[in-house]
Amino acid sequence: METEIYDFTEGWQSSQMTHAGELLRDGQVVAFPTETVYGLGGSAIDERAAAAIYAAKGRPADNPLIVHISQREMLTQVAEDVPEVAYRLMDRFWPGPLTMIFKKKAQIPDSMTGGLQTVGVRMPDHKVALALIDAAGIPIAAPSANLSGKPSPTTAQHVYDDLHGRIPLILDGGACREGVESTVLDLSAGHCVILRPGAITYEMLLPFLPELIAPMVQNPQPFVNIPKAPGMKYTHYAPKAPVILYSGAREAVCKRMIQDAIAARKRGEKIGIIMTQYQFTAPADLVFDLSATEEASMLHRTAQHLFECFRACDDAGVNRILLQGVTEKELGRAVMNRMVKAAKEWICLE
Ligand code: TXA
Ligand code: MG
Repeated sequence: METEIYDFTEGWQSSQMTHAGELLRDGQVVAFPTETVYGLGGSAIDERAAAAIYAAKGRPADNPLIVHISQREMLTQVAEDVPEVAYRLMDRFWPGPLTMIFKKKAQIPDSMTGGLQTVGVRMPDHKVALALIDAAGIPIAAPSANLSGKPSPTTAQHVYDDLHGRIPLILDGGACREGVESTVLDLSAGHCVILRPGAITYEMLLPFLPELIAPMVQNPQPFVNIPKAPGMKYTHYAPKAPVILYSGAREAVCKRMIQDAIAARKRGEKIGIIMTQYQFTAPADLVFDLSATEEASMLHRTAQHLFECFRACDDAGVNRILLQGVTEKELGRAVMNRMVKAAKEWICLE
């Protein structure tokens, strides 16, 4: 199959958007940008689309898909028993990177939700995504548009690298603003749990949900009994080279990372270094400096570029990646969650 790319970075022709919408209505798949990562879309009410999405990604069939809507009215086609608080969250955070899990409507095929009777729904904050859903006129199921086992794609090129020849069309809307996938919040069956941290943070949700539970990677113990997102049991993407994650006090982290970089190079290894909170100079083949004077900007930059850095390390064939962690608060929760999942070893220093 030929994969076409439509360049929508500077706007689009309505005929092209109409064509993309027709593909979706016909049960086919289209990759499109959202504010978080690129999605691989298909009709949420068509079994054929579910099959096409899972086949293109090589994704296990029991890992459910998120349904994307462009208008609040579409929610009634997808979910039922929506709790009152969810509408207040929609008022505040939609369109945006917040996925909420509700009881699913019967017209959403079981194959979309991995057999679950619940469904994740969100309204993406990206004009291409919203226009595409409008053009299709139906809710659109979309996982991240990567091959299963690869990091989520944050550019159209990443999607092409993974899925060319497997899907008919990619809409290029430029680089994604957030870079990490949406927050997944379970509000079904009286739960109130963050299943996956994202750019809508625990701190932002807490005023609406005083009982909210947010598992932290640094201290998971009290939360071992909370329900898990089905996707969480699968090995998350880790680059080909082992990732060594460092966290703790500045002096100790920088000193240890420099030592380890020197030692690895002495062994003849090609290494990549990803810096976040603290800057330092060390020998390396690839260096990514995501630091910034404000912690909030550093976290935003790190969220935006982390997956891209991992892909670049894979492409360059590095043998080891030294990765500096971040503090687990606000957006740092989402960032650290993705870092820990990618890490082979985690060195906590005081
Ligand atoms: O930002 C995003 O959420 C991106 C863009 C494309 O919207 N989508 C995305 O989808 O990251 P995906 O399929 O890669 O991740 C969806 C996550 C998985 O961990 C899945 O298990 C969880 O959400 N999930 C989906 N539906 C669920 C449900 N009904 N119950 C529990 N977890 C669910
Ligand atoms: Mg994914």
